[in-house]
Amino acid sequence: MKITVINGTEKHGVTYKLKEIFLHELRDRAEITEYYLPKDCPGFCVGCTACFLNTQHLCKDAEYVQKIERSMLGADLLVFTSPAYVFHTTGAMKAMLDHFGYRWMPHRPAKEMFAKRAVIITQCLGAGGNSAAKDIKDSLSWWGISSVKVVSFRLMADIDWNKIDGKKKAFFQKKLSDLARKMRSIDYNKPAHTGLIVKAKFYAVRMMQTGLGKQDPEYTDYKYWKENGWVGKERPWKERTE
Ligand SMILES: Cc1cc2nc3c(=O)[nH]c(=O)nc-3n(C[C@H](O)[C@H](O)[C@H](O)COP(=O)(O)O)c2cc1C
Repeated sequence: MKITVINGTEKHGVTYKLKEIFLHELRDRAEITEYYLPKDCPGFCVGCTACFLNTQHLCKDAEYVQKIERSMLGADLLVFTSPAYVFHTTGAMKAMLDHFGYRWMPHRPAKEMFAKRAVIITQCLGAGGNSAAKDIKDSLSWWGISSVKVVSFRLMADIDWNKIDGKKKAFFQKKLSDLARKMRSIDYNKPAHTGLIVKAKFYAVRMMQTGLGKQDPEYTDYKYWKENGWVGKERPWKERTE
């Protein structure tokens, strides 16, 4: 099993420790590739729109973005981690997610993503962990991923791992180990189920793409949808029919 982990912080703080607890249960059977932000995707999207209008390979940060994309497309399980920063995910995580705007459903979603499972781990001092997770989950859903497990912790006292009391750590440990064992028991040869929310997004965009294609059959995103057969009978969550 292959796991790609995107860490929303480079700090070896609480987020890192929680992620390590989760991965511990999977290490003996998984090939794990980790990315730390901002180090592994340091550039901001500058809004050149080359990825939307032409190709993602023209992005000034393509070297970083495409490396992460290849890793995600080849993985069975995607793991995203982030502390809450001012009620949201870290700026570094948001900056990386912006680079994948072209993979949102209204543009050119990757078929492989519809079959993937993902885990999001967030934590905060008091509040904001859930909205940090939502920032990430929004992108995953628009990329086509339905199977997303979220764990979010509130520290409520110390933010230094070494000072967090044992009872609380045991709670984190149990929750993360239980989830890891659950993720471990999945048969990754079977694609994840595509849920109603993702399907609703797909069909709404399909209608939009059909309209756009009538106006301009050379439009980049329409051509991609057409090539994939999605404006016809093909669906990204099903095997091709021909
Ligand atoms: C810039 C910044 C903003 C933060 N915003 C919040 C917040 O909105 N809500 C909260 O509960 N904690 C907030 N915190 C606290 C962190 O979420 C908390 O300390 C977390 O444990 C840090 O994780 P780390 O050890 O992995 O860096 C913030 C911390 C920083 C540095």
